Amino acid sequence: MQNIVILTGAGISAESGLKTFRAEDGLWENHPVEEVATPEGFARDPDLVQRFYDERRMRVLAAQPNPAHEALGRLERELGDRLLIVTQNIDDLHERGGAGRVLHMHGEVLSAWCQRCDARHRWERSLRDGPSCPSCEMVSLRPDIVWFGEMPYQMGRIFGALEQADLFVSIGTSGAVYPAAAFVQHARDARARTLELNLERSAGSALFDETRLGPASKLVPQFVQDMLAA
Ligand code: NAD
Ligand code: APR
Repeated sequence: MQNIVILTGAGISAESGLKTFRAEDGLWENHPVEEVATPEGFARDPDLVQRFYDERRMRVLAAQPNPAHEALGRLERELGDRLLIVTQNIDDLHERGGAGRVLHMHGEVLSAWCQRCDARHRWERSLRDGPSCPSCEMVSLRPDIVWFGEMPYQMGRIFGALEQADLFVSIGTSGAVYPAAAFVQHARDARARTLELNLERSAGSALFDETRLGPASKLVPQFVQDMLAA
């Protein structure tokens, strides 16, 4: 049985109605990255950043998983710990689509992180009104999101899985941001087969053995059906 690592990006949640980052009306078009997705931006104007993530938190709660998330949930149930799903997304649609062991390398918008006691809490409401941390009572909660310039989560575990991978699949990511954009090269170095499922060619397409173009809600269920039939 193969070891599979799957990386997902904003494109897998696009058909659930969540904006991607670099489309013409994408998230970064309306908000300079430096203002809402960097520690400096948060220090400069915490209320603007809290409002940006409050809006994304509400949209995530209102969204539903699509057939791509549900197909990966089926694949994980079938493969167990032979499959590692790593996502750059901060939504919980993989989990609501049935996947139970997803690694969120950029954090999660439904989690709040206390800057004083380092506790993390499931968080579904606004952080704007300065709620206190349930653990230490201090008013020091920020979105549990990895911003530009910060270290993504669990990189050791991800690179370890890539070294053991027989197959690496990238779904719905533009390959614009590191270190996620370098995963395909790590997989190639480990002699894994590499497959990209995306709406259009990405910055890394040339590095994949195969690129299939189309919407994730069509390509991913077909991919999973083929894997489970093999
Ligand atoms: P990076 O490689 O993630 O991005 C390169 C640089 O591009 C960043 O410094 C960013 O500020 C700049 N940039 C400017 N406009 C941009 C745009 N429209 N889209 C993307 N980038 C834009 O930079 P980094 O500082 O090395 O990031 C470190 C880590 O932060 C990355 O590895 C990534 O995992 C994480 N990250 C998280 C988020 C998020 O919203 N959760 C966003 C970006 C990066
Ligand atoms: N099906 C498949 N792919 C899609 C779909 C879809 N329905 N819709 C869009 N895509 C593809 C786009 O073609 C694009 O290549 O998804 C990709 C989305 O790219 P980005 O908007 O750059 O999002 P992502 O790759 O996840 O960004 C990576 O950058 O700014 C940071 O932290 C942020 O996690 C994000 C990271």
